[in-house]
Amino acid sequence: MNQGPRSAERAVAIFRNTWGEPDFVSRAPGRVNLIGEHTDYNQGFAMPMALPFDTSVAVAPAPRGTPTEIVSENFGGAVLAPYESDLEPGDWAIHIRGVHKLLSEAGIIVDPWRAAIATDVPVGASLSSSAALEVACTLAILHMAATRWSPVAVAQLGQRVENEIVGLPSGIMDQLISTVGVRDHAVLIDCRSLELSPRPLPAGVVVAVMDTNTRRELVDSEYADRRTACERAAAALGVESLRDATLDDLVRLGSEFDLERRRARHVIGENRRTVEAAKAMTDGNAVLLGELMTQSHNSLRDDFEVSSPALDHMVDIAHNSPGCLGARMTGGGFAGCAVALVESERAAEFSVSVTDRYGASGERTATVWICEAGSGGSVLTTTQDRRPTPDR
Ligand code: GLA
Repeated sequence: MNQGPRSAERAVAIFRNTWGEPDFVSRAPGRVNLIGEHTDYNQGFAMPMALPFDTSVAVAPAPRGTPTEIVSENFGGAVLAPYESDLEPGDWAIHIRGVHKLLSEAGIIVDPWRAAIATDVPVGASLSSSAALEVACTLAILHMAATRWSPVAVAQLGQRVENEIVGLPSGIMDQLISTVGVRDHAVLIDCRSLELSPRPLPAGVVVAVMDTNTRRELVDSEYADRRTACERAAAALGVESLRDATLDDLVRLGSEFDLERRRARHVIGENRRTVEAAKAMTDGNAVLLGELMTQSHNSLRDDFEVSSPALDHMVDIAHNSPGCLGARMTGGGFAGCAVALVESERAAEFSVSVTDRYGASGERTATVWICEAGSGGSVLTTTQDRRPTPDR
């Protein structure tokens, strides 16, 4: 993350330059998933943590008779979103329009508003910048409507925006951790019951997020493919979802289900690893947690096939760098970030080693963040609230 003013301050500054003083700022974090990948839409377990990077939206109602206008710092400069015109799925404003539409349908009166958006969440890096935008905008509109929804309801609305408006059949993990994140904790999510169980990181270790600086291109269809393969496996096994299947069940799948068997083996193993990882956190067993993360990567690479050469390379480099206890790709896959568990005392050495080794080929540079867990989305109504959080 840059060392300059944080996203909330920048959003306020853009708002001021454009229209004057905003009424409030809503903010929501991106996430890094420690373990439990491609399990959420299989009603399984995931254990993400909120990042200390937010998307912030500075807001005020639009004056009577004027339309909704949104300015964004990032996506193509400080421009007004084509709020009333047709949008393509790739347009960032589709997430905001989707929120607006679904909230209106839910009976929330959405009067025209003005917003300036800034983000510290790297976009397209598998750190859930879309979820952060959806959650921050939902919180903003609910605040304007003087309505409170539970964090789970806010997350479900964001998930529906992805599923119904953007067209990505994603699970609940990203939006849920963006609303319920707990400072200094990862959160074990039971994606069936939506029961949440925050767990502190074991003493003496930190989480390193490592950006390969590769970005996804046209792979949303791969995500949908993985999901339908899991659904086919569950149907062939006669269970509601792979959450209800065991590794022993997989022998029942005939050879025509070879692909589905591998996809299911990942999901079933990953659910077990995630529950074990949560216990390792409670027991303060950082070594086991790291091993489970590494096993998760191998399974995502070999059975689920959602890694990429750059992600595998980054994970390899992490393993060969000082203080690494385990590493894996994080998020949907194919590009973006990997995550490692690193001994705190060697974190600085680790970062230098990863950056040097990854950059050695001259092809791309790595970005490494040593992250403590941030907190879930919120509305900041006073200047005091909006002060930048101290450096973590
Ligand atoms: C994306 C989706 C999530 C989840 C992950 C993979 O981030 O949005 O719902 O499925 O991929 O774990």
